[in-house]
Amino acid sequence: MTVRERFAIAGEFPVLRLGFGAMRITGNGIWGEPGDPAGARAVLRRVIDLGVNLIDTADSYGPEVSERLIADTLRPYPAHLAIATKGGFDRPGPGAWRPNGRPEHLRAACEGSLRRLGLERIALYQLHTVDPRVAFEESVGALAELRAEGKVRHVGLSNVSVEQIDRARTIVPIASVQNRFSLSDRSSEAVLRRCAELGIAFICWAPLDRGALGRRSIVRSARAHDATPAQVALAWVLQRAPVAIPIPSTGSIEHLDENVGALAVELTAEEIEVLEHFRRPVADVLRRAAAKGGRGAGKLSRRIRRARP
Ligand SMILES: NC(=O)c1ccc[n+]([C@@H]2O[C@H](COP(=O)([O-])OP(=O)(O)OC[C@H]3O[C@@H](n4cnc5c(N)ncnc54)[C@H](OP(=O)(O)O)[C@@H]3O)[C@@H](O)[C@H]2O)c1
Repeated sequence: MTVRERFAIAGEFPVLRLGFGAMRITGNGIWGEPGDPAGARAVLRRVIDLGVNLIDTADSYGPEVSERLIADTLRPYPAHLAIATKGGFDRPGPGAWRPNGRPEHLRAACEGSLRRLGLERIALYQLHTVDPRVAFEESVGALAELRAEGKVRHVGLSNVSVEQIDRARTIVPIASVQNRFSLSDRSSEAVLRRCAELGIAFICWAPLDRGALGRRSIVRSARAHDATPAQVALAWVLQRAPVAIPIPSTGSIEHLDENVGALAVELTAEEIEVLEHFRRPVADVLRRAAAKGGRGAGKLSRRIRRARP
């Protein structure tokens, strides 16, 4: 199978199918300034040099820090760069996230993002999460209004179910869905399928399972391709559906280069079949094995290879 390198979001923004997640260019607990601001800026510049043209951020990252750093580093923005941002969380402190899907909050969040990013219109504005205290239709309705006013070009959702996608589509066209998805977390499999049916971008967050898949768990496929485990994990996501767009985050230029290189890795049908059986419990055991200096990882990778439904 040949991996299609680009996907046109809403048929309009052709993006490289390897985006950059800008959550970790902030301090610990996604709070405050990054430990190495110059390094974070260098990574952002490298994103552009590599031709990556989808950057995912949110008002809540920092809060505000990620958006400000993107604007300070990349303005004037290159043509064809799509900055996707999100609203829908309050941040009471480091590591703390409280959903807030009230329409007035979403409006204020979007206006803040426009100001910080220095944009007249946001290419893709996503509802970050569903707030159980607010009627879903009200939150989506607020984004529909922002779109009607021209502040937002396209509306996306995040952390939603198939049923919520279908409900939202009765209110406003939905261009993207951003859910957690990786080799070791496939809880959004049905959402990915629905996005593929509808031609909606499926933006995968934590495609490296927060770094865990960059370790030795999938070493065998990686060796066969002269690739790294992280590249195999990303290639697997890319080959799941042409609408899938992983957005790994990194503070390292080396890792960024490596991640973009995943677009060139084509897994064979046999390798994909083996990886199909790679499930979280195995990933967890491997993670523990890696933490103990890798003991047992070889045995476990044999178990993965032998695994059958
Ligand atoms: N919608 C939502 O609710 C939501 C939630 C969480 C995240 N997100 C979005 O998704 C993006 C990615 O999620 P994430 O950061 O949680 O998970 P991730 O991308 O799966 O993992 C990031 C971690 O992987 C490491 N890493 C990156 N490339 C690597 C490589 N080639 N080899 C080894 N390790 C590597 C990074 O460390 P180094 O810095 O050392 O490379 C970092 O610690 C975020 O930036 C954000 O935009 C969205």
